[in-house]
Amino acid sequence: MSRWNNAKLVVFALAAGACVQAAAQTAKPLYPGVGRAATNAEIAAWDIDVRGDLKGLPPGSGSVSRGETLWEAKCTSCHGSFGESNQMFPPLIGGITPEDIKTGRVAALAKGGEQRTTVMKLSRISTLWDYINRAMPWNAPKTLTADEVYALTAYLLNQGNIVPDSFVLSDKNMAEVQARLPNRNGLTRDHGLWDTRGKPDVSAKACMKNCGPEPRITSSLPDHARGSHGDFVEQNRLFGPVRAVSLSGGAAVAAVTPPAAAPAADPAQALAVKAGCMACHTAKQRGIGPAFAEIAAKYRADSGAENKLMAKVKSGGQGVWGNIPMPPFANLQEQDLRTLVRWILKTE
Ligand code: HEC
Ligand code: HEC
Repeated sequence: MSRWNNAKLVVFALAAGACVQAAAQTAKPLYPGVGRAATNAEIAAWDIDVRGDLKGLPPGSGSVSRGETLWEAKCTSCHGSFGESNQMFPPLIGGITPEDIKTGRVAALAKGGEQRTTVMKLSRISTLWDYINRAMPWNAPKTLTADEVYALTAYLLNQGNIVPDSFVLSDKNMAEVQARLPNRNGLTRDHGLWDTRGKPDVSAKACMKNCGPEPRITSSLPDHARGSHGDFVEQNRLFGPVRAVSLSGGAAVAAVTPPAAAPAADPAQALAVKAGCMACHTAKQRGIGPAFAEIAAKYRADSGAENKLMAKVKSGGQGVWGNIPMPPFANLQEQDLRTLVRWILKTE
């Protein structure tokens, strides 16, 4: 029980229409008349975090070779056979040297400027274990057993030459592996936030008078990359004292002004970006998923395609274009699904 505390966790039994306060562990209810105390089983199901000091790690073990088999079956489709990744996702493996394992600081990272991989950045082994355990595979999180997570972690460490081929990772030797992590000394207090008034933007103290010149975000992006994702002013930070610089030469947006109502060139496209479709699809080139032009060509003569594809996007699936699965998008509204599919089917 590293984080949750029975007394604080109250389950709201709204679906049942009634608020039952079954005083399971707490003698005196914390919120009288509301909910009930969580059971130990419910707390255990939430309490899965593994801390930097390895508290919370469940017992278990897994070998590099078992990890390789699991990796091939469950992870290769998105991350590539060796964690080098396909075209879309950042690579998990690469960029570290035997010297880094000695020093505990990845030289390429300290130098900067290179593509960063997961093994380069990782400073706590618990993070890798915990992340896989709670979030992967992306299309079916929390389906791996503890032993499988050990095996997959071992395989990734082996791909990074941090542990040998014969290695079996377990709760007993995680600390030894921690002592070999290439970037174990890479933690820093450099917050990485943009400076405003010479201080990181964390205290949120509003200046009420004589505030001096309007603070602006100064971008640390190199010139060629500025604006590659659109004009900063059209993005976040509409509130508070710090607002974005306009890249089109205009003034910074005034406080609490709603975004300039510049509609995206194509609302359907904006919707696809927002819904995350473009992580795997592009108009013309096959990525993780088929190109929209390929989809349009395939279903051109199929009058039932619109409804069929809406259902497919909603519930996800695989096998039509290959064995890489598309995750379900169960939360998309019917109307948005229709807009997206119609737009895709029009791609030339
Ligand atoms: C359907 C695609 C997909 C599959 C399958 C998949 N992943 Fe991932 N994985 C992702 C995406 C997308 C991210 C980045 C998620 C994010 O940034 O929120 C990611 C991130 C990760 C990361 C963290 C990378 C980092 O540096 O932050 C690890 C580790 C990882 N995956 C391991 C696995 C393992 C192990 C499996 C197999 C059990 C697996 N993944 C299967 C899509 C996938
Ligand atoms: C994680 C990657 C991923 C994301 C994100 C994604 N797709 Fe896909 N998509 C795929 C894959 C892989 C396929 C091929 C599935 C198959 O072979 O059956 C696919 C197939 C499709 C198809 C064709 C289905 C068929 O049966 O022919 C449509 C239409 C589609 N995607 C639309 C979307 C839309 C709309 C979104 C955003 C809401 C989206 N996709 C997001 C990976 C993705």
